[in-house]
Amino acid sequence: MIERQKNSAKQKSPVEPRATSDEFSKLDATLRPQTFDEYIGQKALKKNLKVFLAAAKQRGEALEHTLFYGPPGLGKTTLATVLANELGVNLRITSGPALEKAGDLAAILTNLQPNDLLFIDEIHRLRTVVEEVLYSAMEDFAIDLVLGKGPSAKTMRLEVPRFTLVGATTKFSGLSAPLRDRFGSVFRLDFYDNAEIEKILARSAKILKVEIEPAACQKLAGCARATPRIANRLLRRMRDFADINHAGVIHSAVVEQGLRDLGVDAQGLDAHDRRILEILIRKFAGGPVGLSTLAAAASEEADTIETVIEPFLLQLGLLARTPRGRVATPAAWQFLGIDLPKDGLGI
Ligand code: ADE
Repeated sequence: MIERQKNSAKQKSPVEPRATSDEFSKLDATLRPQTFDEYIGQKALKKNLKVFLAAAKQRGEALEHTLFYGPPGLGKTTLATVLANELGVNLRITSGPALEKAGDLAAILTNLQPNDLLFIDEIHRLRTVVEEVLYSAMEDFAIDLVLGKGPSAKTMRLEVPRFTLVGATTKFSGLSAPLRDRFGSVFRLDFYDNAEIEKILARSAKILKVEIEPAACQKLAGCARATPRIANRLLRRMRDFADINHAGVIHSAVVEQGLRDLGVDAQGLDAHDRRILEILIRKFAGGPVGLSTLAAAASEEADTIETVIEPFLLQLGLLARTPRGRVATPAAWQFLGIDLPKDGLGI
């Protein structure tokens, strides 16, 4: 059984600006794979995870605490869902910012069943007071609660059931060392290749009962930023275009027109991405420029640039990180059709 903590749904994450939470929950219900067999991609990760899961099952133990990190939309929550299903345990979902007080975490932990899976999304955003309670829960399966205030305050030790924490983060460097060290396994999720995205799209189209032509599927896959969440979102928008204007079938022409209407280019970049590159080139002569300066010039949060926009630009080789700051590569100048300076880049 999957339970999502109520107040987590209300939390607006600053690092997920490209879709609404409503959209995510619809996705959750329909398109998310439930088993390893249904889960496409992340081959090496899946292979190891399957072994650790089988070993835990064979010994009748809870799986060791597991951390997933990587850019948004690559399947961290989905993997937690698959793990809970494969283990046959409950999944409790919450997020770092939703746990405001130590008591919020204590309430969740004390209500878990043995071997349950607790998923904490955006775990790098946990408050220190909550994180400290989590340490003893992860290590000793007990928490120390402070009751009352001032000189009469007392501490009470509460046992919690043996559980598995699955943490997810888009910002591995944002985790404190003590928290990182308490995970038995740490997995980085990679971008998907086009063939994997095509398979995901074909599977999703079947579930959504929409016909998509193979050439259209291929075209759409190439524009999905190597990210399943974006692929599925684009698919649903193409379904809208097809339903209203093209008798419900997604042809190549539907995809071409649809992507144009959405402002998504052939590489899958949208206005946000192009704007960052353009600011980097036009305002800072291509860089290097510090992240916070770039963020201020673009009126974006530094976190959003670092965890949402930048990873795919790095992957495409349009942006580079140097010790002196972010740099637009010659490919970025070419991509935007801007002439490179005659005396070369100041890198
Ligand atoms: N939907 C979203 N991510 C997926 C994945 N990795 N495999 C299959 N379907 C998905």
